[in-house]
Amino acid sequence: MKVGFIGFGEVASTLSRGLLDQGVEVLTCVEGRSPKTVDLAKSAGVELLLTFQEVVESSDVLLSTVVPDQAVHVAKEVGKNFKGVYADLNNVSPSTVKEALSYVSPGKTTDAAMMGGIKNGLKTPIIASGPGAEIFAELNQYGMNIEVIGLEIGQASALKMLRSAYTKGVSALLFETLYAAYQMDVDEVLLGYLNQTEGPFFQESATSRIKSSAFHAKRRAQEMDEVLEFLSYYEDPLMIRAACEFFHLLPARTGIIRKKPADYREMFREVDYKGE
Ligand SMILES: NC(=O)c1ccc[n+]([C@@H]2O[C@H](COP(=O)([O-])OP(=O)(O)OC[C@H]3O[C@@H](n4cnc5c(N)ncnc54)[C@H](OP(=O)(O)O)[C@@H]3O)[C@@H](O)[C@H]2O)c1
Repeated sequence: MKVGFIGFGEVASTLSRGLLDQGVEVLTCVEGRSPKTVDLAKSAGVELLLTFQEVVESSDVLLSTVVPDQAVHVAKEVGKNFKGVYADLNNVSPSTVKEALSYVSPGKTTDAAMMGGIKNGLKTPIIASGPGAEIFAELNQYGMNIEVIGLEIGQASALKMLRSAYTKGVSALLFETLYAAYQMDVDEVLLGYLNQTEGPFFQESATSRIKSSAFHAKRRAQEMDEVLEFLSYYEDPLMIRAACEFFHLLPARTGIIRKKPADYREMFREVDYKGE
């Protein structure tokens, strides 16, 4: 099995290491890419081909792991005449993934979405849908964690959007609730009571969400734009619109946070969330 990566950043380098350990041949091309990408590919030990076209011709499975706004562009560049299975793993909306995969022919296409950060390596849960999803999921025999959820392009990315609507909506709510509680010095007590109804791991996940909301606010705002646009096809989403606005306004209120805060109270001390 030969797996080719288009785009070799955090996701590709993490998955590659795991796949190489399992005896899979991994290919990429770093022609014209940044020094960071070149270093990642060299240190991962994958086979470096001279052109993206060679990667296309040599791969059984091609994984697009670029950045969201390049998903359509790369599919257009490399999808023509690809004969294997092309999986788009970028964080994009169902309409974007449909557009990107429309350029892949005659290969089979897969809409794939990571349901969490890549830090868990090959075990990171990935959901997949589309005509190529079953073949893409054969990578499970090499340690990947792919669940096929449907036959249509757009189903996996839609599920990812719905999950984002929930997790980011809750994060926005938690931030505002805890910030007010912190001002009154009752945040720890509040978390204790919430733990009783929400379960034993709630406090840890709640505080982690608050810290990463602030640290990744800019990226989250872009993701919420996509979520809002997507949900607006089905309803007039008041909560998601508010959460989207929350993430757009947050960076101005917190200032630039260069390092993920170790403690949410420490972060709240620095923040002027009143927005005056
Ligand atoms: N990281 C995560 O935990 C995570 C979780 C879920 C989904 N995702 C999605 O997975 C994708 C990859 O994420 P990542 O964290 O690996 O991103 P990343 O670290 O920023 O890496 C992106 C890679 O794509 C390359 N690239 C950009 N434009 C390209 C183009 N036109 N042609 C070829 N290569 C190109 C970049 O090269 P240069 O360095 O030269 O720009 C870099 O190697 C994203 O769409 C992201 O939304 C990531």
